[in-house]
Amino acid sequence: MQDPKRYTITAALPYTNGPVHIGHLAGVYVPADIYARFQRLQGKDVAFVCGSDEHGVPITIKAKKEGITPQQVVDKYHAIIKQSFEDFGITFDNYSRTSAKIHHDTASDFFKKLYEEGKFIEEVTEQLYDADADQFLADRFVVGTCPKCGNEESYGDQCENCGTSHNATDLINPKSAITGAVPSLKETKHWFLPLDQYEPFLKEWILDSHKKDWKTNVYGQCKSWIDDGLRPRAVTRDLDWGIPVPAPGADGKVLYVWFDAPIGYISATKEWAAREGKDWEPYWKSDDTKLLHFIGKDNIVFHCIIFPSMLKADGSYIMPDNVPANEFLNLEGNKISTSKNWAVWLHEYLEDFPGQQDVLRYTLTANAPETKDNDFTWADFQLRNNSELVAIFGNFINRVTVLTHKYYDGVVPVPADFNEIDEQTLAALKAYPAVIESSIERYRFREAQQELMNVARLGNKYLADEEPWKTIKTDEDRTKTVMYVALQIASALAVLSEPFIPFTSEKLRTMLNFAGLQAQPNWQSVEEYSLPLGEMPQGREGLIPSAHVINKNELLFSKIEDAQIQAQRDKLEASKAMNEAANKVMEPQKDTIQFDDFTKLDMRVGTIIEAEKMPKTKKLLVLKVDTGIDVRTIVSGIAESFTPEEVIGKQVTVLVNLAPRALRGVESQGMILMTEDAAGKLVFVNPDTDGVGNGESIN
Ligand code: 2FM
Ligand code: ZN
Repeated sequence: MQDPKRYTITAALPYTNGPVHIGHLAGVYVPADIYARFQRLQGKDVAFVCGSDEHGVPITIKAKKEGITPQQVVDKYHAIIKQSFEDFGITFDNYSRTSAKIHHDTASDFFKKLYEEGKFIEEVTEQLYDADADQFLADRFVVGTCPKCGNEESYGDQCENCGTSHNATDLINPKSAITGAVPSLKETKHWFLPLDQYEPFLKEWILDSHKKDWKTNVYGQCKSWIDDGLRPRAVTRDLDWGIPVPAPGADGKVLYVWFDAPIGYISATKEWAAREGKDWEPYWKSDDTKLLHFIGKDNIVFHCIIFPSMLKADGSYIMPDNVPANEFLNLEGNKISTSKNWAVWLHEYLEDFPGQQDVLRYTLTANAPETKDNDFTWADFQLRNNSELVAIFGNFINRVTVLTHKYYDGVVPVPADFNEIDEQTLAALKAYPAVIESSIERYRFREAQQELMNVARLGNKYLADEEPWKTIKTDEDRTKTVMYVALQIASALAVLSEPFIPFTSEKLRTMLNFAGLQAQPNWQSVEEYSLPLGEMPQGREGLIPSAHVINKNELLFSKIEDAQIQAQRDKLEASKAMNEAANKVMEPQKDTIQFDDFTKLDMRVGTIIEAEKMPKTKKLLVLKVDTGIDVRTIVSGIAESFTPEEVIGKQVTVLVNLAPRALRGVESQGMILMTEDAAGKLVFVNPDTDGVGNGESIN
C-alpha cells in the first residue's frame, strides 16, 4: 500500500496460561515492535495493539490442574506478561485483555450483528462428549491421532506437529484430556460461519492480489487451505468459560476463543482510542489504513482465512495488508514447550540479565525464524553479545566518545578539509536509512539489523584506516575532521538503532547529549544531512554540530561470561530432569504375594569390601561383600553408575538367599538392592545403618 495515512499493527494475543517465552518474542513481539517503532520514527500515525487472550480451553485445563478458577489463572499471567513486555521495551499503545468489559461487549455485538443479518448457519451436530466429566470436549479437551500426519498427541482443534487445524471429531482414537475416557458422540446446537461462501472473496483477495507481497510460507498455507475447499466452521462452544453466546437457545454456550480473540484487536484499539480521545473507526474501517497482523505460523489460518471472513461478513472493515507470520524458534535443539518448561521465560531473563534487554532483542532478531525454523542457543547468545554488540557496536562508540573527551574535552571539533575518504564515508552513511527502511518495509528484520551493524562496521573501518590516535601527534586539523565524521556516524547509530536496540539507542542519545541539540537528529536528517560541511544546505550543520558538548562516556555493552551461560544451561537441564521425573511412567504394581512368600526373602545389611571391573564388560562389577554371615562374591550391574573405588566401604542391602548363578564365568552369590534417581543413575538402597552391624536382618 502506497503512503498509508495510519497504521494498525496487531501482535498475536498471548494465551494467559503461562508467561511469555523467547519463541513468542522472536516470532511475534520483537518484529512487531521494530516495525511499530520504525513507523513512529517516520512520524506515522500508529496504533500498536495487543492484549491477553484469556478464554479458551488451555486456561480452564490449567485452572483445573492447579485447583483455582480460570479468572485466577488469567489474572496471574496477565500481570506477569504485561509487566514483562513493558520491561522489555515492547511499545504497545495498548495492552488489553479479553476478559475486559469492552471486549465482551465488542465481541458480543460483533456476533449479534452477524446473527441478526443471518450470516451464520445454525446446526445441530454430534460432538464428542465425556460422560464421566459430564462435558462436551471441544478443542484441547480432546487428544488423539492427527488425521493428516499421524501424530498421536494432536489436540482437537489443531495438531502441533504439522500445524493442521481440524475439528475434534476428525481425530482418530480421540480421548478426553480431562478423564482419559473414550468420548461418545452427543447432539448439540452450534452456530457456524459458512467459510465456503467466502471462498471467491478469499481467492481474489489472497490468491490473486497478494501472491507477490505476502511471504511464501503464508501464501502457501492460505493456498493449500483454499485449494482443499473451505467448510463451515463452528464459532460457538459448549463451555462455561468465555463470552456467552448472545442468541436465543444458547444457554451454557460461549463464543469460540478463535472467534473472540481476534476481535480483541478491535477492542484494544477502541480502549486506546477512548483513552487518547481519538476515533477508533478509521483504524479499522478506512481504506487509507494499513492493517498488519504479526503472528506465528500456527496462527496463519485464523488471521488469513477465518478472521478476514468474519470481517467480510460484517462488511464495514478493511482487510489486513499483510500478515508477516514467522516460523518457530527452537531452544537448544528442542521444540520450546510451556508444559515441559523447555523455554527461556521473558520475566526470568529480565531478572537474570538486568539492564540487558537489548542483548536478547538483538540475538532474537539476528536469528529470527523468518523463513524457516531456527534454533536459539546460549552459546550463540554469548557470541552475538561478545563479538558483535561489544566488539563492533560498543567498540566503535567507545573509541569515538573516549577520544572526543581525551582530545577535545567532550566538545565536537570544527572539521578542516574533507578528503575523498571522508566524502565516501559520509556518502555511505547517507545511504543506510533507505537501505534499512527497505528491509523493514519488506518485513526482513534480520537483514535490516545486519545493515544497522554495517553502519557500526563502517565507523570502525573509518577509524582503523584514518587512525586519529596517530594523527593527533602530527596533524591536528586532520584529526579534527576524522573525529567530526566519526561523531556523525555515532549520532546516526543512535537514531538508526532505535527500532532494534532501543535501550542502547537511548543511552547513546544521552551520551551524545542529544537533549542539548537544537535540531534533533532523526531518520530523515541522517538521510539528508550526512554530508561534508561544504555541501550542507544553508543553515544546516552536521547531525551533531561542532562546539556541541557530549556527556561522559559509559559502556553500552559488557562481556557475558561463561559462568552466566553455564548457569542458564544448568537451569534448562534441571527443568528437563524435573520434567522427565514428572512424566516417568511408574511400573504397575506386581501381583499380590502372601506374608510367607515375603518371609522367604533373607535380606541383610552388608558392606562392600572389594570391587573390580569385570573384564570386557561395560556394566558389571565383581564385588566382595561382607554379609555378616560370610564374605562372598556378588556380580552387580552397576559399573555405569559407579567406579570400583566409589563403592568400596559402602554399607548396602543384600538379598543373601538368592540361588547362585554364573555371570561371565563368575558365580554371583546374592543381589544388592538398587534403585534409580530422577536422572536414571543407579543408587544404593541403603539401610539407615548408623550403628547397625553387618548381618542384621532387614524385615
Ligand atoms: O496462539 C496463540 O497464542 C493465540 N492466543 C493467539 C491469538 S491471536 C488473536 F487472534 F487474538
Ligand atoms: Zn498433524
